[in-house]
Amino acid sequence: MFAARQAIGTIQRRAFSVSARDASKVAVLGAGGGIGQPLSLLLKLNPRVTELALYDVRGAPGVAADCSHVNTKSVVKGYEQADVAAALKDSEIVLIPAGVPRKPGMTRDDLFNTNASIVRDLAKAAAEHCPKANILIISNPVNSTVPIAAEVFKAAGVYDPKRMFGVTTLDVVRASRFISQLKSTDPASENIVVVGGHSGATIVPLLSQSGYNLEGEQLDAYVKRVQFGGDEVVQAKGGAGSATLSMAMAGARFAESLLKAAQGEKGVIEPTFVDSPLYKDQGVDFFASQVELGPNGVEKIHPVGQITDYEQKLLDACLKDLKGNIEKGVKFAKENP
Ligand code: NAI
Repeated sequence: MFAARQAIGTIQRRAFSVSARDASKVAVLGAGGGIGQPLSLLLKLNPRVTELALYDVRGAPGVAADCSHVNTKSVVKGYEQADVAAALKDSEIVLIPAGVPRKPGMTRDDLFNTNASIVRDLAKAAAEHCPKANILIISNPVNSTVPIAAEVFKAAGVYDPKRMFGVTTLDVVRASRFISQLKSTDPASENIVVVGGHSGATIVPLLSQSGYNLEGEQLDAYVKRVQFGGDEVVQAKGGAGSATLSMAMAGARFAESLLKAAQGEKGVIEPTFVDSPLYKDQGVDFFASQVELGPNGVEKIHPVGQITDYEQKLLDACLKDLKGNIEKGVKFAKENP
């Protein structure tokens, strides 16, 4: 009898504990796409998500109906173009994978013309309807789309640099997987630090910080594979797009980390491209490094730390490119408000 009462008490406490305090609405903008669909599924499987708002200019209601049959508690709703306000209202996290992906031979910068205005418009909607949400930008070129979104939030008077993120998790996922293949280690226990930005030479893996010292051609080949790993997928898909499944996993991991940190877990660290003080003196206002997350988004931006001369050269090349990518985004946002 006592045990039964205790059990009921536990259930009641659990029911209470997932009420208001932990209610987390997550919105995906571009939910009908190659990334959006598996990302929505992974978020549906996450017990920390209580409501999932799936928005796209095409196909979101279908993805939502499909996901909604998965037997987890969260409520899933699909939204079409006219409903962006309802999709965004009360969202704690907004993931943006809307836009076009690369085809073989294209760089991420080649996507700028199309994706810059898509991200600008979605950022405007987010600034209006959920100005306090964490905004997670997946749409490429991330090095430019994050500064664009930041400018939009600034123009709306609601910019909080602690809540604007470029999702670079996939670079860490790749760097960790690729070293595990070389060293025959468990990829799940690898966590290679990757700093800089999210395209080509701006992606800087810091292998030395995990105690690895590859040398010569093997090191060059490893770095190149991390920097251009996305191209392997683009080529293998032969014109049908870029990384979607691994990206969905990476995006879901980042969202999970933010939710964990928002719900009080300490020491949650993810690499992410944020408004960062680290290289502002060199004119680089956004930079990806290890970032500790907390209830208010960015809690602490970790410096790059000790690196080898080889890694310093990579970092120098990164900063040069990154500066141009960021300036391009800011210029676009200012000239095309
Ligand atoms: P996709 O073409 O399969 O899907 C994009 C979706 O966005 C489509 O469903 C489309 O209808 C939707 N969309 C377009 N304009 C929209 C708007 N104004 N509002 C709402 N939805 C809109 O493309 P995929 O493969 O899902 O890639 C999406 C983006 O993610 C690309 O820019 C790609 O380069 C980027 N990406 C980023 C990565 C990262 O590590 N950050 C990795 C891989 C891709």
